[in-house]
Formats: sequence, structure tokens, C-alpha cells
Amino acid sequence: MQSKPLYRTARGHAYVGDSLELLAGLPDNSIDLVMTSPPFALRRQKTYGNVEETEYVRWITPFGREVFRVLKESGSFVLDLGGAYRSGIPSRSLYNFRVLLAFCDEIGFHLAEDFYWFNPAKLPSPIEWVNKRKIRAKDSVNTVWWFSKTASPKSDVRKVLTPYSGRMKKLIEDPEGFYKPQKRPSGHDISAGFGKDNGGAIPSNLLSIPNTDSNSNYLRLCKELGLERHPARFPSELPAFFIKMLTDEEDIVLDIFGGSNTTGFAAEALKRKWMTFDLNHEYLVSSVLRFLEGHSSEAVKRVLGELNYSHADFFIGKTTCALAPAKKAKPKDKSLSQGALVFPGIGHEIANPQQIVPADTQKAARRGTQSLA
Ligand SMILES: C[S@@+](CC[C@H](N)C(=O)[O-])C[C@H]1O[C@@H](n2cnc3c(N)ncnc32)[C@H](O)[C@@H]1O
Repeated sequence: MQSKPLYRTARGHAYVGDSLELLAGLPDNSIDLVMTSPPFALRRQKTYGNVEETEYVRWITPFGREVFRVLKESGSFVLDLGGAYRSGIPSRSLYNFRVLLAFCDEIGFHLAEDFYWFNPAKLPSPIEWVNKRKIRAKDSVNTVWWFSKTASPKSDVRKVLTPYSGRMKKLIEDPEGFYKPQKRPSGHDISAGFGKDNGGAIPSNLLSIPNTDSNSNYLRLCKELGLERHPARFPSELPAFFIKMLTDEEDIVLDIFGGSNTTGFAAEALKRKWMTFDLNHEYLVSSVLRFLEGHSSEAVKRVLGELNYSHADFFIGKTTCALAPAKKAKPKDKSLSQGALVFPGIGHEIANPQQIVPADTQKAARRGTQSLA
């Protein structure tokens, strides 16, 4: 097992490898949140009927078991699964529901809450049933299972309040004038206290987030440098929502199918520690672009050159990750472009790389146990 990351920041490490093997190097009860989106079912042509559903569950269950082991008692596991049709017929696959049942019944996860990610920008699919035959509506909602190790994971919905509606704002401004306290037909008593300003509305479990990331630094640099962008990214707002609600600053967030490292980027922006695993070296190489906002294009090209080696352990000392829509990035002054990146053998080496795994991992490493530290 590889022990060195491909790259790291002061808060996070990105590793190339099979996450089942990498997870085995993490200690029990050490991670606050695993946020991930695995490769979805039914991508392979050779799968038919219901078999692919059980195959998928069989494939993903060992990852689920390892996640259960490494999560803290207060930890959560958020799994984004896109819906799918069965091969060749207009009948939905049940694979995402089978995963939910298997994780709860066989592994012991709690379903803390089922979330649904609505992507209003989703193109109509599948073409055969939606566009050609017009017998199905377009599929634009992913199931997002929020699993927890215990019935009471760390969570605070006040960290993800949404803006009040216009009506609610009016009610807060003038509760008496706007609303007469009365009983609803259900018997529910709506008192004037309902007009209290809590700083925002409680979000629902339907997250409406368009997946239209056309102006991010990542996409811009991929285009400029002729690099392939990851084909199945989720928008940073999705992991950001769960990171905010389920963790505190300095907690550890892990993505076991990291792809373009959207989760690591959101965690970095929110001052959480993070780890990302992905099997595909190229995906992880281009993901470094997310952390190079403001660096000169020469520096970016040099970093990419360094990452040819799959455990290059490249250190980015200063990142300027922000979740707000990226403004046109301008290279900042030369000192940032050069001083904040460490080119092994060119710049200064890091004597004591910051560990992001918990202290007992480090102890395990000293004892000679395999670990990521
Ligand atoms: C749906 S993509 C994740 C995309 C990511 N959420 C993003 O926003 O870029 C799934 C990723 O899982 C990776 N993957 C598949 N099997 C893996 C394994 N056994 N270990 C680690 N990564 C794996 C793929 O290379 C792919 O990048």
C-alpha cells in the first residue's frame, strides 16, 4: 500500500489507489464524515436484468463495511447515488434502494435521513424513453443516503439555514400585521412566535443544486492546459452542505471515490481536514488545479509535471479555496506563485509534514502497522 499522497495541502491529502486498500490503512473510529459518489450501477453493457443490482451491492458492501469501521461514533456517511434504468427496458433499477437496505440491515448503519439532490440543469435522459418515445419524465433527482454509525450523529441544521422566502421576511418584519395567530385545521397552533428571526429557514431534504460549474478554476485550467476534466463531478455545494451540517472546523472529511476532489476542495474552503482517494491517477492529477487558484500558469505546469509520479507528495502551502462562484482568476504576485508551492528537490522540503490522521494513526505507524500517516 502506498503511504505517500499524490499531493497535499496544510489540511488535506490526496491519494492514488484502490480505496478498499487505502481504507485498510486507517484506524477505527477516526473519521468524522465520509462524503462520496461512487461509480453508479449499470454503466457496463454486460449487465442485464436484476443481476447488476445484486452485483453492485456485492461490489460496494466491502467499502461500506470499511467506512463503518473508520467512522467515529458521531460520524456520518453520505452516499450520492444516481438513479438508473434497467438495461434495455423502461423499468427502473432498484440498486440504490438495495444499497440502502444492505448497508442498514447487513452492516448496521442507521439511515439518519434520506436526501434527494435535484439538478434542474440535468439533460433529458435516457434518450430512448424520454426524448424518442416520450414515455418517461426526465430523471433529474439523485438519492443521497445519509447514513450514521449511531442513531445520534453529530449534526446541526442551523449551520445550513437557507434564505427566508419573501412571505417569511414580511412575517418577521411585522408578525402581528401579517399573520393572525390561529389554529390550523390540523389543530396545529401557529403562534406569533412563528415570526421569530432565526437567521434563515430550516432546509428541506430536497437539495436543489444545478450542476453547472462552467466557470470554476478547475474547468478553466483543464481547458487551458488541455487536460481531461472528470466526467462525473458533483457540484461543490453538495458536499459543502453536508460538511457544514455534519462537521466542525478541523474535523476530518474523507471521499473514497474522490474523482476531481470536489469534496476535498469544499472541505479545504470550509477549514476541515480532508482525505481523498481515487484509483485513477489522471483524475487526481488534474484535481490539483482546484487548489492552485491564483498561481501563475508556469507554476501550475510545473506542479502538473511533478505529479506524474503517483505518490509525488507534492505540498501546496497556501490555498485560496472559496465556495463562492469563482471570479476570473488572476495570477497573484510572484511570491505567492513560488513560495507557497514546494517543488521537491527545487524548493524547500517539508521536514515534518502535517499529519491529518488522528494521533492513534501516528502511534500505529510508529508500531509498524500499515497506515496512511
Ligand atoms: C462518480 S466519480 C466521483 C466524482 C467526484 N464526486 C467529483 O466530483 O469529481 C467516481 C470515482 O470513483 C473512482 N473509483 C472507482 N473505483 C474505485 C476504487 N476501487 N477506489 C478508488 N476510486 C475508485 C473513479 O476513478 C471515479 O473517479
